[in-house]
Amino acid sequence: MKIAIDGPAGAGKSTVAKTLSQLMSYIYIDTGAMYRSLTWKALQTGTNLNDEKALYELAENTNIYFQKDDSPQQKVFCDSFDVSEEIRSPRVSSFVSKLASYPSIRELMVKRQREMARNHSVVMDGRDIGECVLPDANYKLFLTASIEERARRRLKEMNSQGYEEQLESIKNEIAKRDEDDARRDMGALKVLPDSIVIDTSNMTIEQVVERILSVIRED
Ligand code: DC
Repeated sequence: MKIAIDGPAGAGKSTVAKTLSQLMSYIYIDTGAMYRSLTWKALQTGTNLNDEKALYELAENTNIYFQKDDSPQQKVFCDSFDVSEEIRSPRVSSFVSKLASYPSIRELMVKRQREMARNHSVVMDGRDIGECVLPDANYKLFLTASIEERARRRLKEMNSQGYEEQLESIKNEIAKRDEDDARRDMGALKVLPDSIVIDTSNMTIEQVVERILSVIRED
């Protein structure tokens, strides 16, 4: 069983995907965390973010993997570093779309994501999962929400991690990222003909998960 969840930043994808994967005992693959980890490493190593070739070489020599512990959160490792928190920093967020726009990087990431899903039941979230990574997924969900609601959710998340951000600047950052993610040539964010679209603006996580489970049950 493969469940693909796509949608813009702050639509609730990762919390929904995590909850769903726990309920169904499936593996959860957060593909945004992979692009973020590579961005983190590029910033750490001073790799030029305008140099696709250098970034590709960096990506080839970078091991990104997930590890589950007792907490509901799974940890993200880049080489041997636990980057779970640092990859959510405003600095990484502001550069990640640039790196994710390079076709060679996307090809490599998509290849790794497919390998991770091979022979497993998975819930995978991102932007191009239904279209590029798992085109034959059993279910393709597209989660969205109003930009105001998405910015409010992101602000709450950032505040809980100790970042002092303003709602307006988060709203601008999300709007810019949405635009970049929707405009790129390869793996652009879009609703597919076979996507099930869920607007989560006025829904709790539990309601979204229940909606998805009912779609699966009805099938
Ligand atoms: O879901 P997120 O906010 O953690 O994703 C971070 C960035 O990575 C986002 O701006 C777009 C990019 N991304 C992508 O291009 N393709 C994916 N499958 C997942 C994320």
